[in-house]
Amino acid sequence: MAQLHIRPGVPLRGRLRVPGDKSISNRFVILAALAEGESHARGWLASEDTLATLRCMVALGAEVERPEEDEVIVWGGGLRSLREPTDMLYCESSGTTMRLLAGLAAGQPFMTILHGSEQLRRRPMDRVAVPLRQMGATILGREDGRLPPLAIRGGNLSGIDYEMPVASAQVKSAILLAGLFAEGPTTVHEPAPSRDHTERMLQAMGALLAREGQNVRITPPTSSLSPITLDVPGDISSAAFLIAAGSLVRGSEITLEGVGVNPTRTGFLDVLADMGARVERLDQRMSGGEPLADLRIRAADGLEAVTVEGEIVPRMIDEFPILAVLATQAEGETRVRDASELRVKESDRVATVVEELRKMGARIDPTEDGFTVEGPTPLQGAEVDAHGDHRLAMTLAVAGLIAKGETVIEGAECIDKSFPQFPDLLSRLGADVRWS
Ligand code: S3P
Repeated sequence: MAQLHIRPGVPLRGRLRVPGDKSISNRFVILAALAEGESHARGWLASEDTLATLRCMVALGAEVERPEEDEVIVWGGGLRSLREPTDMLYCESSGTTMRLLAGLAAGQPFMTILHGSEQLRRRPMDRVAVPLRQMGATILGREDGRLPPLAIRGGNLSGIDYEMPVASAQVKSAILLAGLFAEGPTTVHEPAPSRDHTERMLQAMGALLAREGQNVRITPPTSSLSPITLDVPGDISSAAFLIAAGSLVRGSEITLEGVGVNPTRTGFLDVLADMGARVERLDQRMSGGEPLADLRIRAADGLEAVTVEGEIVPRMIDEFPILAVLATQAEGETRVRDASELRVKESDRVATVVEELRKMGARIDPTEDGFTVEGPTPLQGAEVDAHGDHRLAMTLAVAGLIAKGETVIEGAECIDKSFPQFPDLLSRLGADVRWS
C-alpha cells in the first residue's frame, strides 16, 4: 500500500483544470452505446471507476476507442445493439457502475452478472433490485439481491411509477435506463433533487423525458437516440478538495478552469458561501447541456460554523468529508443532519471521517445521520488511514496542509478511483506532497 506524505507549507497559487466529471463520464459511455452513430467526449475522466464502466460496456458489445487518455469515441449501435456478455462484468469498486448497469441489464433480453471488489460487495443493491424487479426483471444476489454479485435476467419490462425512498441519482438513473426498454412510460419521484446528469444527457440525445417538480418521466423512444459530442466539465466533487485547500491555507489564490456548476451539484459552494469562504464563479457558460464556470478561490479571512440538513444534502453528498475539515477551522459548532447515506459510501463516512480526523486533533462527534464539529481547533500531523476511500484520502491530505508537522496517509492509492492527478496538482500549486 502506498503512503502519501503531506507537510504544511507555502500558500497555494496557480491556475489549473481539474479532471472531467466522474458521473458524466460514466453516463457518457453507457448512453453513447445506445445511440445510433458516433459520439465523442473530450475531457473524459480516465480513473478506476470510469474505466470499469468502459470495460463493462465493451463486454456488452459497445464499440469504443480512446484516441487520447481523456478522449473517448463510441460507435453506438442503437438501443437493441447490446449482446449477452460471456463473463461476469467486473465493476471494480464503482457503485455507479454497478447500479447504472443493473438498470441497463434489466432492459436486455439476456443474462448479465455484475461483480465487484470486496468493498463494493458490501454496498446495498436492494435499492435498485426492488424497483427493477417491479418492472419485471429477475434479479438474484446475496441476501435476496441486497448485496453483489447480482445476476440479472432482463427484458419484457413494464413501466412503473416509483417513489424512491432515498434521494439517489444512481437509483434514479438505473430506473430511467430500464425505462428506455420498458413497455409504457416510467415515472420516478425523488424525495429531494439529486444530480440530474442522466436526464440532461438523455434529453440532449432526443429521448422522451419530461421533468416536473421532483418527478421524472421517461417514455420509451420510438426512434433511435442521437449521438452526442461533449466537453466534459471538470468534476466539482474533485475541485472541492482544492477549493477547501485554497480556502484554508493562508495567502492562497487558485483558479480552477471549467468546473461543472450544475445546480444539483453545487450545495458545497452554497455552504462555503454561508461559512464566509471566498469563492467566485467567473465566465459561466454551457457545454453539452451542462453549466460550467471558472472558480477563483482566495483564502478565507475566517470561517463560521453552519448547519447542513434537508434538501441540500444530496446536492453535496460527496463533499461531507471535506466539509468536516473546513468545519474544524470554523468558529462554532457545525452540524450535519439527514445524511445517513454517508454510511453506505465507499466507507462508512461518518465513522471513518470521525475516526481519522480525531487522530489529528479535530473535535468531531458522530451522530446517526451525520456529525458535529466544534471549531476552531488546531490540527496536528498524524499517521492516518484512507480506509480504501478516495474521498477520505483527499480529505486527510487537505487536513495535512493545515496541520502542524507531517501527515502520513496509509493506503492513499485509492485516490485513483476518481482523481488520480490530485497529488500532482497539489504539488503544482506549491504544496509539499510526496509518495512513499
Ligand atoms: C453518483 C451519485 C451519488 C454519488 C456518487 C456518484 C452518480 O451516489 O455519491 O459518487 O454518478 O450518480 P447516490 O446517487 O447513490 O447518492
